[in-house]
Amino acid sequence: MKITLNPHAKDAATRDALVAEGGFGKYYTDHMVVCEWSEKDGWGEPELKPYGPISLDPATAVFHYGQEIFEGLKAYRQPDGSIALFRPDANAKRFAKSAARLALPEMPEVLFLETVDALLKQDGGWVPSKIGEALYIRPFMIATEVGLGVRPSNKALYMLIATPAGAYFDPSKAVSVWISTEYVRAALGGTGEAKCGGNYAASLVAQKAAAKEGCDQVVWIDAKERKWVEEMGGMNLYFVKGSRADATVVTPKLTGTLLPGITRDSILSVAKDLGYKTEEVMLSIDDWRDGVKSGEITEIFACGTAAVVSPVGQAKSAMGTWVTGDGQPGVITMQIRNALLAIQHGTAPDSHNWMSVVK
Ligand code: PLP
Ligand code: COI
Repeated sequence: MKITLNPHAKDAATRDALVAEGGFGKYYTDHMVVCEWSEKDGWGEPELKPYGPISLDPATAVFHYGQEIFEGLKAYRQPDGSIALFRPDANAKRFAKSAARLALPEMPEVLFLETVDALLKQDGGWVPSKIGEALYIRPFMIATEVGLGVRPSNKALYMLIATPAGAYFDPSKAVSVWISTEYVRAALGGTGEAKCGGNYAASLVAQKAAAKEGCDQVVWIDAKERKWVEEMGGMNLYFVKGSRADATVVTPKLTGTLLPGITRDSILSVAKDLGYKTEEVMLSIDDWRDGVKSGEITEIFACGTAAVVSPVGQAKSAMGTWVTGDGQPGVITMQIRNALLAIQHGTAPDSHNWMSVVK
């Protein structure tokens, strides 16, 4: 790894003040990692360098045809002051899968992990220490061949940036959701399983519609039958059926159109560890509405790297509005959130070997 240090890196007091502000994506650490790929030479040597703007030809492929992928993972401060990443290998694998779907080069897992480690070694001081806060790491890759022909790019640029992240949503408040029946996020054979910018670009008009309805987030339903609940704009969904020790924690099945969330996958294990039954199911909008009305569905929450676990309260759609429980964060939701955060912050045993300490 080539290393070029930032001569204008923030001093510790300035950095700590920025980290203390919380928020999401407001400030970026002093460095970034870049690595170029070409069809001819493969991956070059990665470089850690000062964070800053990049210069690209206006005819660069990514600006025109959106050939881009990204990832999101977090580094957590541990009780002994060290830093540990949550399941970075899973992000590396999903990044490679997204690359394959977008006709971008698959970055070897070791190279991906090497870049994350290098940034953390340099900018580890930016990792917050409060529970629920972390350093959010954003690897991404863009197509950099210059030219307007529509073809897979023969050049790509991988970059890695990081931002201190507080809560994406306030976990003490339930998120309200708008179930979109007008727009569709992903169809089978499309890019729903990949983490590509295009999925998010196409979702924004629905996000706008949600805001107009007074809702925080969009819930997507399937493209074919237009009835199966899939996921949210940037998070997977969970439903709690029943209560206390008899509760079953269910999540929509991965059908090929949802993003296979790493938090979603982890919660299947955490919920089992806590003694709950878990199920991956096909759940329709009618099941949601009827389950809430009958009281069978007692809690709903969203989960993802940025959001961790966020309670979902009111659901609004063209078919009406219904509220889960008393509209407040559920007991099991908060129990799962706290259990996951305890593993991530190193205050509970890492029985699944998810944490990777930065050495
Ligand atoms: N679904 C979408 C569309 C997302 O953008 C995300 C965020 O990464 C998730 C689900 C949750 O995935 P993960 O838990 O891997 O962050
Ligand atoms: C993440 O949780 O990593 C995401 O990519 C979601 C995004 C809405 C920030």
